[in-house]
Amino acid sequence: MPNLLTMNNLTNETIMQLLQRAAEFEQGDLLKLGGTVANLFFEPSTRTKMSFEMAEHKLGIASLPFETGFSSVLKGETLYDTVKTLEAIGVDAVVIRHSEEEYYRQLEGVGIPVINGGDGSGQHPTQSLLDLYTIWQEFGRFEDVHVTIAGDIAHSRVAKSNAAALTQLGAKVSFVCPPEWSGGFETSNRMDDYIEETDVMMLLRVQHERHAGGELLTKEQYHERYGLTIEREGKMKSSAIIMHPAPINRGVEIADSLVESERSRIFKQMANGVFVRMAVLEYTMKGRD
Ligand code: CP
Repeated sequence: MPNLLTMNNLTNETIMQLLQRAAEFEQGDLLKLGGTVANLFFEPSTRTKMSFEMAEHKLGIASLPFETGFSSVLKGETLYDTVKTLEAIGVDAVVIRHSEEEYYRQLEGVGIPVINGGDGSGQHPTQSLLDLYTIWQEFGRFEDVHVTIAGDIAHSRVAKSNAAALTQLGAKVSFVCPPEWSGGFETSNRMDDYIEETDVMMLLRVQHERHAGGELLTKEQYHERYGLTIEREGKMKSSAIIMHPAPINRGVEIADSLVESERSRIFKQMANGVFVRMAVLEYTMKGRD
């Protein structure tokens, strides 16, 4: 019964198998997996939640809505007892987003697959897989593709998941952010050092909600120093693409008009998320009784 909790323990072979299956789903594979999944989102989400629901719909899986605000979690029920309850009533797998990093360690005794939809500032494996799928579609390889990840690295589960997986697959990964947001990575605070040579400019959202101590820079200052401005975009290679996991702060990490520009793959990433999540649901649920 495989879970999908982090990118850190996926082999290149498993990653490539998942991307291949995503491609087959995109090309029209009509697998009907059946079964029942509960989507437990304890933090807000639009893309991850809705694309899991779409993936479940396409696979003939019944999605059980779980409203955290009306559940017995409010009476103090633990995450473990919540998931054990869902298992007892016949749910085949759970997708969970939670504010607590590595929340899934509490769930080691559960008997159904757990798919991590994002844990605090920890990991976001399905976002990473859809990012990898988008890069692979574009370049046909990972080796020597230069990916620059720019933004709120310290708070970003996307940066952490992608840094590990991209490096393991042979890509060159650079990080750009204010020094205070480096999160232990070797980073540069000079966006202009990478703009001309990068193949993928991956921008991250400034996570205002996780900045308890207030903002370092105004939105205008951030855009000027670390954002993808129109001027910087003009220096990118003709083959280079723009990515962003979204939601986007338009005019902060990226100029408004670049979000839907020719280089942008931001909405393609969202479309790819459905096929990748179909592959992940199949991977985790296939061996069930
Ligand atoms: N990219 C992403 O995880 O978006 P949501 O927070 O809307 O799910």
